Amino acid sequence: MKIIRAEKMGFCFGVKKAIDTCYDISKENIKKYILGMVVHNKDVVKEMESIGFEIIEEENILNGNNPLKENDSIIIRAHGTTKEIIDILHSKNINIIDATCVFVKKIKEILIEQEKKGDYILFIGDKNHPEVKGIISFGKNVTVFKDLNELSNFELNPNISYTILTQTTLNKDNFFKIKDFLEKKYKNIKIFDRICGATSERQEATKKLAKISDIIFIVGDEKSSNSKKLLEVAKTYNKNSFLIQNENELDLELLKNKEIIGITAGASTPEKIIKNIETKIRGNFDV
Ligand code: F3S
Repeated sequence: MKIIRAEKMGFCFGVKKAIDTCYDISKENIKKYILGMVVHNKDVVKEMESIGFEIIEEENILNGNNPLKENDSIIIRAHGTTKEIIDILHSKNINIIDATCVFVKKIKEILIEQEKKGDYILFIGDKNHPEVKGIISFGKNVTVFKDLNELSNFELNPNISYTILTQTTLNKDNFFKIKDFLEKKYKNIKIFDRICGATSERQEATKKLAKISDIIFIVGDEKSSNSKKLLEVAKTYNKNSFLIQNENELDLELLKNKEIIGITAGASTPEKIIKNIETKIRGNFDV
């Protein structure tokens, strides 16, 4: 048996930066909070709690049911948050430490800029994901589509100028299909490719690995959008593709009679968890 890791996997630039920010702030002798999951990984959240952070959910900011007091500090997670939350925090004089990933911020800026120019925004992504909720909350005229299927049922008005934006984790192949479809049909559109490089690199590496593996594990949280996308990519090339959060979810039965075990990980998965999974495999099989 052989374990092969994807060429690109694990912590991305934005996640690393958000976690580093938390560690920096943890040294300060102040009451510290994080808005929601700093990154979409339960183990990382537990780690942040262990270094003194309290997690406050967005709904508790909205309904006022939270312990925040004037001059307290709160870290905004890598996915960002909504305008409404930012406005509430400002109105209460809470010190905002913004760890929103620069790639997410950039999409928000383009959206605001294009709206100022008079464009209507079409956004491709998961409307229930915090990143999407956050970005579109800064706009006035935004319609969200899950995928090409949904988008193709929507007739664009030829008298309106449209800007097309996407979630950072959108599957690159799907993006090109959407781009192709829109460009063939319409002239009154501007399409911005702001898919995060870390996401597409990880998807490419997963594709490559899934093709040569007998089984492939995607290590990540079920709430992590980019991990779920990696699973989607892997499944296209390998029916033995599984998303697992940590070593406790690794079913050793699945590894019987398998030669090549592929391992990849979402952008919010710590190296420690990946190592624990490899150790468990090595401890039970001749690797
Ligand atoms: Fe940012 Fe891309 Fe990571 S958007 S948080 S660098 S997956």
